Amino acid sequence: MLGLRGLARGARALAAAPGSRAAASFASRDGGLAGRLRGPGAAVALAAACAGAGLCVLRPVAAAEEKATQASPGRFAGAVVIITGAGGDFGRAGALRLKREGATVVLLDAAPQALEASAKALAEVPGPPAMAFLCDVTSDEGVETTVAKVELAHGRITHLWNNAGYQGAVKPIDEYPIADFQRVQDINVVGAFRVLHFVSRSMRKTGGGVVVNTASVAALRGTPAMPAYVASKAALLAMTMSAAKDLAPHGIRVNAISPALIGPGFMWDRQNELHAASGSPYFSRDPEEVGKNKIAGVPLKRVGTKDEVINCVLFLLSEESSYCTGTNLVVDGGLQMR
Ligand SMILES: NC(=O)c1ccc[n+]([C@@H]2O[C@H](COP(=O)([O-])OP(=O)(O)OC[C@H]3O[C@@H](n4cnc5c(N)ncnc54)[C@H](O)[C@@H]3O)[C@@H](O)[C@H]2O)c1
Repeated sequence: MLGLRGLARGARALAAAPGSRAAASFASRDGGLAGRLRGPGAAVALAAACAGAGLCVLRPVAAAEEKATQASPGRFAGAVVIITGAGGDFGRAGALRLKREGATVVLLDAAPQALEASAKALAEVPGPPAMAFLCDVTSDEGVETTVAKVELAHGRITHLWNNAGYQGAVKPIDEYPIADFQRVQDINVVGAFRVLHFVSRSMRKTGGGVVVNTASVAALRGTPAMPAYVASKAALLAMTMSAAKDLAPHGIRVNAISPALIGPGFMWDRQNELHAASGSPYFSRDPEEVGKNKIAGVPLKRVGTKDEVINCVLFLLSEESSYCTGTNLVVDGGLQMR
């Protein structure tokens, strides 16, 4: 495994490569190693450093051209947006859109490779330099120190997309592994609470903010063979309302988004395979049939796209939803409607 100094050397070499216009300073978590990266590949290098071990981005340094992109108008110009689960499908797509619309995006994920891939994708689009932190939402210390670093770097956190999630096993309740049930709650409920806890403390200090929690239509329908996931997202929806009440006096809005039947692609196919293999009488044993049956049950008769989810997340994060708090925006083609 690379030592911190080796990692810094590698990061400097990467910073000289084409691919990104950002430059930034960095430091080891204990403050023992610090430096500054400048060059066309600096953002990629920093993402690699984050994903490697112990290095974190402290302060993006704007070059003249970066200042120009920072000043570019957009719904989120001047915003500092934390996204958890930023290495995942939704998180990455949302990060790209937010950066294009002027936000300084801060990527958090527990999976180093996924985080690095998102940071690399982000380096290719115009907008203010992004940051990436390896951060597990099940760790008190990890979340608290990461939030503190973002605050130190930018002086404020204006938006949080609380999006990290773990689906867990797909098994009926009598076969469901108890330890996995616990893990799903640890990530989807306690993890989301932990992030909201620390970020809302920071937002209070700077006069307010906006939060979107990613829940799911599974919470509204009691999807079979997913008891842990259903319970966790229902808890998140209830917590969204409680947090919205607690935080309204501090100028913080908290809403939820509940997608369902998003595809096509790996997640859609995988989900249908898992449902087909679950043994539940509610699903066909044939994954293709499972997919067809789901679409047949949706009023709009098609799957929803990732972009359609991101449109709604950005609406809730933006001032366009300024009178919405404690609500749940369902993005499901009418599936859960009775
Ligand atoms: N994809 C869908 O159709 C769908 C539908 C409804 C709700 N959702 C929800 O949307 C959110 C994003 O889902 P996605 O489709 O992008 O899934 P995904 O699996 O692609 O992304 C989830 C991300 O969360 C990260 N993560 C998991 N545990 C973590 C932890 N402990 N700390 C930090 N990060 C962690 C993963 O590493 C991953 O990058 C999830 O909360 C999911 O439950 C997704």
